[in-house]
Parts: sequence; structure tokens; C-alpha cells
Amino acid sequence: MSEWQGARTDPRDRLIVALDVPALDEAEALADRLRGVVGWFKIGSQLFTTAGPRAIAAIAQRGRVFLDMKFHDIPTTVGAAVGAAARHGIALCTVHASGGTEMMRAAREAAHRAFRDTGVGPARIIGVTLLTSIDERTLREIGAAGTPTDVALRLAHLARAAGLDGVVVSPLEVEPVRAACGPEFLLVCPGIRPAGGAPDDQRRVRTASAAVRAGADLLVVGRPITHAPDPRRAAEEILREIEGPPAHPRAPT
Ligand code: C5P
Repeated sequence: MSEWQGARTDPRDRLIVALDVPALDEAEALADRLRGVVGWFKIGSQLFTTAGPRAIAAIAQRGRVFLDMKFHDIPTTVGAAVGAAARHGIALCTVHASGGTEMMRAAREAAHRAFRDTGVGPARIIGVTLLTSIDERTLREIGAAGTPTDVALRLAHLARAAGLDGVVVSPLEVEPVRAACGPEFLLVCPGIRPAGGAPDDQRRVRTASAAVRAGADLLVVGRPITHAPDPRRAAEEILREIEGPPAHPRAPT
């Protein structure tokens, strides 16, 4: 079982809020509003392109940092980028599993090297299987064979064989990927929506409780929290879903 599963895990350590905002001061204000209820923050391409490593330094003071740059390039370039990122003191970093085994190995080795050289980290490297916004129609459009589940499973196997720490999967693929890759493989799940909530541009979505029951370790939630009238309250509702019902509900009297 991974360190984030089991009844004793604090649900705050399983919730990652995606800081997809256009400016660092906005990201800091959001992280401050969520302080104490969220253990992780995700810096994606929008915030990193705007504010760069300053964003990592600022957000690391408020929680663990997941740098979601989804690197996808030749192995040397990805290795160099992951090495640079790992030296900034991030906890988690993404590369596209479709970049292939050699590229993923270069990423993993660069993260280990950064840890050996600096003592910072080690950053865990996870592979993006299939974006949660991709449906069957888009798969056909890009010429990929099989269903989204087939593709996600194939890429999860590849990521595991390349020695990555885990993968990003949609809530719909968590169960088969968990069954195929074992209890220690880190499964990070975006595409989380409250029951009846707007999917936005996401296509393969589920609720937080469904994702956790299926075997997700960490949940990535953006707009359902960041666009909520009260982000802190929205985060607390998701924490309750992660926690699930009490183990021994009181008998009705
Ligand atoms: O706002 P929402 O909850 O849809 O945000 C989901 C976040 O997770 C976004 O920052 C997106 O980049 C990220 N993500 C994703 N699907 C993946 C990997 C990351 O939606 N496969």
C-alpha cells in the first residue's frame, strides 16, 4: 500500500489544488486562503510560464509543490529540464509517458542525480498516461488505437517498467491501472468533479469519493475549488469525500 492510502492518512495530504491562475500574487492569495486544509499545490504551465522558479519558492512555503510541466521532448532535453526542476525543491513532477522508455529513464535518473548532488528531494517523477480531456473521438483524431482505458493501461505499464514512481490517470482508469501496477505505484487523479458539477473541458470525470474508492492516492482539483464562491469550503467538502463515511457509524436510536 502506498503511503497515502489507509485510514490513518490525513486527507489533506491527498488533496492537490491546481493553481491555474495568471499571476503569482493571485496564486499566493489562493494558497493562503486554503492554508491548513490543503497539503499540496500544483504549479502548471500557465503559472510557471508567468512566474518561473519564483512561483516554486513562494508556493513551497505554503505546502508541497507538484510541478506539472508534462515534459515531452528528446531524452537529453527532458533529463536536463527535470534535473533543473528537481533542484528547486519540488515534491512531484510530470513527464508524458508517450515520450517513451528512454525519455522517462532520463527523467528518473536526472531526479536521482539532483538529489545526490544537492540533498534536496528526491522529487518523484510520474508519467501522464492520457489527458483527462481526451475522449474516444480525440483518440481517433490523433490516430491512437484502442479505448482510453487501453491507452492508459499501456502507458502506465511503460511508465512502471521505466522506473517512474507512478502515473497520472483519469478516475475512470484508476481501478484497472491499480490492479495492473500494484499497491505501491503512485496514482494521481485529475478530472475530479462534484456530483452534478460542470465538467468544463474535462471528458473522463468522477467524484472525489469514487476516485478514492477506486484506488487513487492523490487527487488534483482545480476549478471546482479555485472558481468556487468559497474555495476553502469547497476544499473542505472534497476532504470529507476523501475521508469517506466513518468506519463505525453510530447505530440509529
Ligand atoms: O480545473 P480542473 O480540476 O479541471 O484542473 C485539472 C488540472 O489537472 C489542470 O491543471 C490540468 O492541467 C491537470 N491535468 C489534467 N489531466 C491530466 C494531467 C493533468 O487535467 N491528465
